[in-house]
Amino acid sequence: MELLSVRNVSKSFKDHNYKVHAVRDVSFDVHQGEMVAIIGPSGSGKTTLLNLIGIVISPDSGEIYVDGQKASDMNDAMRCRIRNQYFGYIVQDFALIEEDTAMQNILVPTLYSKHKKSAREYREIINNMAEKMQISEKLKSTVKNLSGGERQRVAIIRSIVNDQKIILADEPTGSLDKDNSKIVINYLRELADDFKKTVVIVTHDLSVARQCDRIFNLDDGILTPFKL
Ligand SMILES: Nc1ncnc2c1ncn2[C@@H]1O[C@H](COP(=O)(O)OP(=O)(O)OP(=O)(O)O)[C@@H](O)[C@H]1O
Ligand SMILES: [Mg+2]
Repeated sequence: MELLSVRNVSKSFKDHNYKVHAVRDVSFDVHQGEMVAIIGPSGSGKTTLLNLIGIVISPDSGEIYVDGQKASDMNDAMRCRIRNQYFGYIVQDFALIEEDTAMQNILVPTLYSKHKKSAREYREIINNMAEKMQISEKLKSTVKNLSGGERQRVAIIRSIVNDQKIILADEPTGSLDKDNSKIVINYLRELADDFKKTVVIVTHDLSVARQCDRIFNLDDGILTPFKL
């Protein structure tokens, strides 16, 4: 069964005096364990589409189903619950707390988790992920002293620390060099293959998109399958 279902979703914004049609009548499904890429030029609506999928913003029209539940109709409290339960969101600008350490940042979502684990269990999970992403030695560092690529990997760990089923990643390799980009994509691929996580990646990088099961192109808010 599809874990995510987007049905005829549109979203526009009012910018001064004119309307921006950021997402136009988009429909697609993503199955559990599938990894899909969304590519497209700057301003084509990629972040808006991820925000709609992750029920951060509401569509003007159309429906979004998460695990069979119609999220687009829910009240704020329900949306919030579904969002925390299902989605790990790696946002485009990382949104880390600069004055805190990497570990403190990673632990933030665990404060809001309904299924809390012990501090020891969290540390074990985080150390394991950090090792895979080759960032272990930076967990105690203050974020403001980390490089862009290091921040990116910290943000990724934070986004999945609660073991959410769906990972939304907005340019997760945007500030990484080739080697680190590979580490991150291989890790996301492993989460999809071995742990049946569903991954939606927005990327400008075709070599990243090629690691995915399917690629979509978003152009001026219109989504079409992309053939390599
Ligand atoms: N809150 C908003 N208010 C007004 N316009 C917005 C808003 N959010 C997005 N837009 C506009 O909607 C369009 C799509 O924006 P979006 O951020 O989704 O693009 P993107 O594909 O993610 O671009 P990039 O690759 O540069 O990140 C742009 O024209 C943008 O200016
Ligand atoms: Mg964007």
